[in-house]
Amino acid sequence: MRKSNLFVGWLPSLTMKVAVLTSGGDSPAMNAAIRAITRIGIHRNCEVFGVFGGLQGILDEQIHELNSRSVSRILHRGGTILTTGRSEEFRTEEGQKKAAKILSDRGFDALIAIGGDGTMHALAALSRHWKGWSIGLPGTIDNDLYGTDYTIGFDTAVNNALEALDKIRDTAQSFQRVFLVEVMGRHAGFIAFHVGFATGASAILMPETKTTIEELALIVIKAREKAKSSVLVVVAEGDELGNADVIGKALSERIGEKCRVSVLGYIQRGGNPTHFDRILATRLGAFAVECLLNGKHGGMVGEIGGTLLMTPFEDTWKNKKPLDQWMLGLLDELSG
Ligand code: F6P
Repeated sequence: MRKSNLFVGWLPSLTMKVAVLTSGGDSPAMNAAIRAITRIGIHRNCEVFGVFGGLQGILDEQIHELNSRSVSRILHRGGTILTTGRSEEFRTEEGQKKAAKILSDRGFDALIAIGGDGTMHALAALSRHWKGWSIGLPGTIDNDLYGTDYTIGFDTAVNNALEALDKIRDTAQSFQRVFLVEVMGRHAGFIAFHVGFATGASAILMPETKTTIEELALIVIKAREKAKSSVLVVVAEGDELGNADVIGKALSERIGEKCRVSVLGYIQRGGNPTHFDRILATRLGAFAVECLLNGKHGGMVGEIGGTLLMTPFEDTWKNKKPLDQWMLGLLDELSG
């Protein structure tokens, strides 16, 4: 089989032997993607194998054949039936060569991996040592991959956080308190951005934007002057000012009022996926199989403006998906 990036050409005529895995942080609807890949693959004459334990699962040869029943009753479940992990061994060239040999020895034609930017890096690295075809699916709650409007699991995570913030708003309002709520997003503020706008936050702190503690204090003081009964500040965990605890202490000192802090944590990553995530995962899973059968590989599948497409691996991390600057500019006016 010839290998090249986004190569469209000769394709294996009979069956393809395809391995599928999930890697890095799990995200809701990874299971929906596994189901689509397995069932569409089998229906179109592929043999489909699940790799258990992420990329390390290749090295440990935790690779088992899947059938249509293996993926029954998982469409609605969070997490990943294949389990996941972050493999130190796979980060090394030896590890990548070893994985390539295992995949070749076991006769695999293709690998589909669902994960975040670390997974896309890993697939690009693997393709330097393996002549099989690789495709990535964007599976992360952080939504920080270029090449798709939304990543699988982001919508569910935002809705999980939204539900929690609505509850916090109730108690904040009753006590007329200032709350800082920390959401996930080590390197990206997409969750904070969406949750902040959807809950009417007075401020959103994210790695992509710079807000000083003085500016934040001024926003809160102005909100109080406008007789706002409760003030919500959404903080992405990766904000440059620090975590919500650190920011909460500094803010309390500046405004002379004790601010309350809630860290939502892993609750955002679990639970039944929303309808949006299930459909997105199903479309991307099916599209990945179709790409392989049409001889297209070497990139991450995604959906932009309703169109399914593939983006070369390197572009998914070299380009930065921007936050909506127009909406950002509206925050002050919207928070009244
Ligand atoms: O899945 C992405 C993410 O949720 C980040 O936002 C977060 O920083 C990270 O995973 C934490 O995950 P872990 O503790 O599993 O490394």
